[in-house]
Amino acid sequence: MSALLELCGEIKYCQKCDIAKDRTKAVPGEGAEGADIMFIGEAPGWHEDQQGRPFVGPAGQFLDELLALINLKREQVYITNVIKTRPPVNRDPLPQEILNCRPWLDRQIELIRPRMIVTLGRYSMALFFHGKSISQIHGTGQKRGGIIYYAMYHPAAALHQHRLRETIKADMQMIPKLLAKEKSISEEKQEALPEQLSMF
Ligand code: URA
Repeated sequence: MSALLELCGEIKYCQKCDIAKDRTKAVPGEGAEGADIMFIGEAPGWHEDQQGRPFVGPAGQFLDELLALINLKREQVYITNVIKTRPPVNRDPLPQEILNCRPWLDRQIELIRPRMIVTLGRYSMALFFHGKSISQIHGTGQKRGGIIYYAMYHPAAALHQHRLRETIKADMQMIPKLLAKEKSISEEKQEALPEQLSMF
C-alpha cells in the first residue's frame, strides 16, 4: 500500500476533534498520487460525509465542470479539504479543528509534492496566504518552496452568488497557463535564481 493510502487510512480513524464522534465517514481526500495540482477545499458537507469522498455534492459537480474546462478529470488531480470531518450543520471549521487537521494536510502535501496548490475558499486560502482577502487575491499565484499557491473562490460560492460563476471559470482557466509559464521558466534554468516570492 502506498504511503498516501496508509495516511488516508489513519485519517479515517482520527479522533482528535469532538466532531469525529458525529460523523458518518471521514473524508481524507482522493485523486492521483503524483498529481501536479492539488485542490484544497474547506470541509466535507453532507454528501461527502455520507460517501467519505471530497466534493461529491453540488459544489463538487461544479468543480468537475471547472476541471473539464481545462481538460482534466478529478482522477488526474488530488482533491482534499482543510478539515477532514464534516462540522455539524455545516458550520465553519473552528480554529482548533483546523490546527488538529493541519498535520494531515501537511503530510499529504509532502507525499504528493504537487507543482501547484489551489486553495478553494477563504479557510483554505488563510492557511497559505496570511492576512489576505479572497476578493483581492483570487486568480493570482505565488511561488514558494517549489510550489505555486493559487487562490480561488470556493465553487459553492457560485451556487449562492451566480455572478461569481464566470469569475471562478476565468480563474480556473489561468491554471494551465501558470503551470506552462512556470515550466518554461524552469527550462530556461531560472531555478538557479533565489527562490523568492513571485506574483504571477
Ligand atoms: N465543500 C468543501 O469545501 N469540501 C467538500 O469536500 C465539499 C464541499
